[in-house]
Amino acid sequence: MHSKAKKIAERIRTHSEVKICSHIDADGIAAAGIASLALDGIGVEHSVTFVKNLDEQVIEELRNENKELVWFTDLGSGSLEMLSGLNYVITDHHVPSDVQSRVDERQILEVNPHRVGKDGAVDICGAGTTYLVAVALDRINTELAFLAVLGAIGDMQDQSNLKLVGTNRTIMEDGRRAGVLDWVMDARFFGRETKPIPRLLQYSNDPLLPGLTGNWHACREFLEGIEVPLKNLNGYRRWIDLAPFESERILSELENLVVASGRDRDHARRLVGEVYLFPREEEGTELHEAKEFATLLNACGRYEKANIGFALCKGDREEALDEAHILLKGHRGALVDSLRVAKNAGVVKMDYIQYFHGGSKILDSVVGITAGMLMGSGEVDSGLPLFAFANSEDGVKVSARGTRELVSKGLDLSIVMNTVCEKLGGVGGGHNIAAGATIPYGKEEELLEIADKIVGNQMGKAVA
Ligand code: C5P
Ligand code: C5P
Ligand code: ZN
Repeated sequence: MHSKAKKIAERIRTHSEVKICSHIDADGIAAAGIASLALDGIGVEHSVTFVKNLDEQVIEELRNENKELVWFTDLGSGSLEMLSGLNYVITDHHVPSDVQSRVDERQILEVNPHRVGKDGAVDICGAGTTYLVAVALDRINTELAFLAVLGAIGDMQDQSNLKLVGTNRTIMEDGRRAGVLDWVMDARFFGRETKPIPRLLQYSNDPLLPGLTGNWHACREFLEGIEVPLKNLNGYRRWIDLAPFESERILSELENLVVASGRDRDHARRLVGEVYLFPREEEGTELHEAKEFATLLNACGRYEKANIGFALCKGDREEALDEAHILLKGHRGALVDSLRVAKNAGVVKMDYIQYFHGGSKILDSVVGITAGMLMGSGEVDSGLPLFAFANSEDGVKVSARGTRELVSKGLDLSIVMNTVCEKLGGVGGGHNIAAGATIPYGKEEELLEIADKIVGNQMGKAVA
């Protein structure tokens, strides 16, 4: 990856004008931030476009713009066969499409972990691969390592191991040396910097806290019961306001609660993991911790405001931050509504997969997050991958989510999506554990039948 990154850096240096094309999620926005800051640093003119996915229309627009060089970040590898006629480089971590189309990979200027036998779902993200090029352009860019970690956390690359692994750790070391990143072992709750402590327990779904998840009052009573004061002079205390003996007490009580509900201790240990902090940001704000910052970026990108998140990544702490805060409220509401719609619609089980259809009540840009949350919530069978549909402008969006257990048994959702798209005519791809696509209207049932068969084969093969 490093030698490819050097080659890409050399290519970029030969141009005076670059177009960055990136994905609208947290990782994609962080990736574009890194690329743009690196180009600023060497004085190369550039502009940025964010897209939900690369389809023929987007690529045609890029061709028409006729820019000297297009830099695809956090996408591109899954669409190689469509990119002819463009002068491009790619920094991505999605499963490359040329496994099927046999494009000669040696001809392509692309950093992608799959090219060196690494798993793009955990080893490094789109922002990380972009970071490698930024550092190849100028060593000073190790200062951008925190954005690479932000992307990895946005893509949940810490989920399987409760910490980042692989190439991500090399990037972490760069970040610590540059003074832009720190990490600690602590509770993995979302909201440690900004939310009342009962809220953290209420929202916890990995692991699910029996009797507490979803119930604000029960969470308050639980904390009062173990004598943790809920408030100080400023109002509700946050996780970062706790003394170590208090947080340890809460965690050990919660571990007992999870174990008492019949889960094993390993599952209960998911309460604690590595937490990534950005020391140059103000403590007690969303920007200080990776999960909250990533959610802020998603709150922008998923609602066609990726530019706001991009400005945040580039350091804007004024207008962009205000606007992002407003978007965050909307995002929170949209997720609550989407989860309710999904539950009302009902999850239907087939032989090897399960699904729900959000119709037009769930936005295509958050149906994947909804599926991921539902899958982790303990409310659906985690033994079957979950497929989620939502209507979109140009067809039906489908998002699929698995678990690391299913992946270890042979599940590969990127293969499922690629095959489905080939058969039904759609655009899609992704990772073994999470993949998505847009397919023509009315093709849901066909998709489900095909997917059920492929997943059955994948899981069967592993058993044989
Ligand atoms: O497009 P991109 O690669 O950035 O997105 C990765 C996707 O994989 C995210 O939607 C993330 O939620 C999902 N993922 C997951 N579980 C993991 C790792 C990634 O659902 N363990
Ligand atoms: O959209 P969703 O969150 O379900 O995406 C899951 C994974 O599949 C992401 O990594 C995303 O980039 C990828 N994907 C893709 N092509 C699509 C839709 C999703 O590569 N058309
Ligand atoms: Zn990504």
